[in-house]
Amino acid sequence: MINLILVSKQPSVNLRLREQLLTDGELEVLDEISNADEALEKVDLQNPNILLLHSGETDTDAISLAERVVQRKPRTFVIVLMEHMTMERLQQATAAGCHNVFPVPENAKELCALVHRVYNAENDRINALDSNERATWASKILSVYSAKGGIGKTTIATNLAMELARQKKKVCLIDLDLLFGDVHVFMDVEPKETLSDLMQENFRNSIDSVRSFMTVHPSGIHILCAPKTPEYAETVSGERVQSLLSLLRAYYDYIIIDTAVNFSDPTLAALEASTSILFVTGLEVSILKNSKMAMTVLDSLGQKKKVRTVINRAVEINSINAGDVQRILDAPILARIPSEYLVAVAAINQGLPFVKSAPKAKISVAICDIADKLIRGDDTYDMVQLTAKEKRALNKRYKSKDK
Ligand SMILES: Nc1ncnc2c1ncn2[C@@H]1O[C@H](COP(=O)(O)OP(=O)(O)OP(=O)(O)O)[C@@H](O)[C@H]1O
Ligand SMILES: [Mg+2]
Repeated sequence: MINLILVSKQPSVNLRLREQLLTDGELEVLDEISNADEALEKVDLQNPNILLLHSGETDTDAISLAERVVQRKPRTFVIVLMEHMTMERLQQATAAGCHNVFPVPENAKELCALVHRVYNAENDRINALDSNERATWASKILSVYSAKGGIGKTTIATNLAMELARQKKKVCLIDLDLLFGDVHVFMDVEPKETLSDLMQENFRNSIDSVRSFMTVHPSGIHILCAPKTPEYAETVSGERVQSLLSLLRAYYDYIIIDTAVNFSDPTLAALEASTSILFVTGLEVSILKNSKMAMTVLDSLGQKKKVRTVINRAVEINSINAGDVQRILDAPILARIPSEYLVAVAAINQGLPFVKSAPKAKISVAICDIADKLIRGDDTYDMVQLTAKEKRALNKRYKSKDK
């Protein structure tokens, strides 16, 4: 929710702006004021996200009010809507430190889009100022992929996104399971717009237009949800996914993509654009059979070097172990996530990823470890350290098979 205070000398203008703003469910008008001194008091008390100042043709108060708020309240973003915008008046406004000066928008849609655009841009700027960390220009695109359904892709993608967001990373989560995507269920959000709606737009180079199709989770994660029904899946093409990802990577630290079990064009576009592919597998012969085949395909596509294996529900029952997986798939193992069905299912039913709802559970600790490794930027992921016993058992098994 973005809240605003409106200031115009003309009450009728305030009324009109209010009506227009309220057509957008994410905007809330806290107050409408026609006097500059009262406005300053209200801003002090209510700390609105946005002060929307209407400046009439002969109005000079608006600019001096803008100046005072810009100086005193850096977290209240000031937008000046100027009637008869002349170069001289524009210069006065910018000299007063107010860089969001626009002609009065023609309709509600334009006004609401403007408010969102300024809010997002200013928020990014303030967050960048707040951040003590070295800016990481190269954002990471992580696709969570598996060669068999139901083995934990969405669980891992949503929990990882949540933990990265908790660690103050800017995270975008994309549900690319176009037929049966359920990221919105795991995150308990009700998307107004989805990827298929976005695909109808010409979003080229406009992060604001893409953002208007995202659902903002209370954790700060921006989610692009899968189409609401399967018949819209085909509106999403590989080419569009590719241009979407190249646009997004300038704005997010992490773009996490939950994929489907296929090598369709959108999936391939995501895998190709990824910096790492988190390849989810398990300690089961049927999963490993498919995983091996998928790995061969990834190899032929030149993507295998990006693969980091995640063994989910890694309960070793003395038949197949992590060492076997490493050997069969010939890819580094990034993590082993234990099996905790009750925690995993309770989190889905609650709509709150378990890293948040059950942070001490072993399964949550395992996801946090992955997030830490990613943040450390340690690209030489730890190989599984096999115990001497595991190594002996492994050698024995494969030697006897080689004969
Ligand atoms: N480590 C785990 N321990 C216990 N249960 C788990 C674990 N990981 C996932 N699950 C459970 O397995 C089921 C499938 O998980 P999930 O939906 O994440 O898989 P998926 O790969 O995304 O499936 P799909 O291919 O259908 O999209 C869910 O009920 C989830 O709670
Ligand atoms: Mg899934």
